[in-house]
Amino acid sequence: HGTSTINNEGHLTIGGCDVTALKAQFGTPLYIVDEALVRERCRQYMEAFRASGLTFQVAYASKAFCVMAMCRLAEEEGLSLDVVSDGELFTALQAGFPAQRIHFHGNNKTPDEIEMAIDAQIGCFVVDNFNELQLLNAIAKERGVRVNVLLRVTPGVEAHTHEYISTGQTDSKFGFDIGNGTAAVAVQEAANADHIDLLGIHSHIGSQIFEVQGFQMAVERVAQFARSIKEQTGTTFKVVNLGGGFGIRYVDGDTPLAVSDYVKAITDGVKQHFAGIGPTLPEIWVEPGRSIVGEAGTTLYTVGSVKEIPGVRKYVAVDGGMTDNPRPALYESRYEAVLANRANDATEEVVSIAGKCCESGDMLIWDLSLPKVKQDDLLAVSCTGAYNYAMANNYNRIRRPAVLFVHEGQADVVVERETHQDIVGKDVIPARLQKKS
Ligand code: LLP
Repeated sequence: HGTSTINNEGHLTIGGCDVTALKAQFGTPLYIVDEALVRERCRQYMEAFRASGLTFQVAYASKAFCVMAMCRLAEEEGLSLDVVSDGELFTALQAGFPAQRIHFHGNNKTPDEIEMAIDAQIGCFVVDNFNELQLLNAIAKERGVRVNVLLRVTPGVEAHTHEYISTGQTDSKFGFDIGNGTAAVAVQEAANADHIDLLGIHSHIGSQIFEVQGFQMAVERVAQFARSIKEQTGTTFKVVNLGGGFGIRYVDGDTPLAVSDYVKAITDGVKQHFAGIGPTLPEIWVEPGRSIVGEAGTTLYTVGSVKEIPGVRKYVAVDGGMTDNPRPALYESRYEAVLANRANDATEEVVSIAGKCCESGDMLIWDLSLPKVKQDDLLAVSCTGAYNYAMANNYNRIRRPAVLFVHEGQADVVVERETHQDIVGKDVIPARLQKKS
């Protein structure tokens, strides 16, 4: 992917940096982000929308990978930002991301989060349910302000993806259902709320989607809904947000479409189905996360123990695992990897890559074909840019790795490796448990 190559010494290089040198300087495990590839993906979205002639915003779904440097990059590329918690909001604000371009998501925003976001004057709230609508209106009233709102609706589209990341169907914790009339009631409530400006509606059907049909169906359902609201109440939506979910290629056999194909399916659908509902076509917003950063990330590990069970399997253990990448354990996600220090080695064996956590489920890759592996070799797992650092954890009190941006031969730390002190930093020993000297 991206700027990855194999150099004359058979070393993997990313962004012009030899990963063996990165290991020497920064240690492993190490997340490496190919900045050029992230920028390229941002530009593909922006260009595809420009080509459509529609008014648009591309909001990077920061949940995929939210650190201050990434917020800066998204801002530089002209994207907006989707946040889902006070932590992501704080990260964005701390990075100086323009508040007006921040959209706040989530099915259970707390009063504190709402207050923080109102005070920061963010661009809009994507309201998920009636409790939130009332709470938001009440807090805005207290502060004497009005807030912009999109209502999240469930269009009743089942995206073909993992059950845990499919969200467009009626039986979902997210959003107001169109099919049973709840969404129409929500529009009325929002229109009647005196401190809320209803900008439009939002729909997100799922994640890691390879086909355009789900998006086309969602556009059609949302347009039907918009038309019926217009007919019944005269209300038109200025903004229609179609969420994220555009797939990427983790392994051979994954068949994502080009960014431009997804965007074209959506914008064509909007032109077709929204024609005549309002005086103009709505503004179209999307929220890609995975497809902006996923393929740009690589995790570099050092091989430690190798256990061969003759006739059964060879386990190759690396110095990370489900703490830096919980996706295989959570979703049975599949990854590919290369031997980064001997990528040209023609020997071949089939091994399974184990993490170092005390848990049998901590396996990163089953049955991977690699050159003959030994201790101290470097393993590079690709496509780890999305939902890896973001979902990393300290199980077994393992420290989170550093994150680098690499670009044109330069490597910059964007998140430092956690220290042992970080691990105990929030621990408190109550006086009565303290060691008597
Ligand atoms: N917008 C909304 C409202 C979302 O819920 C999500 C993802 C996105 C946008 C971005 O979707 P993307 O373009 O990244 O597919 N942890 C899971 C993925 C959870 C996705 C949650 N929502 C994973 O590792 O696969």
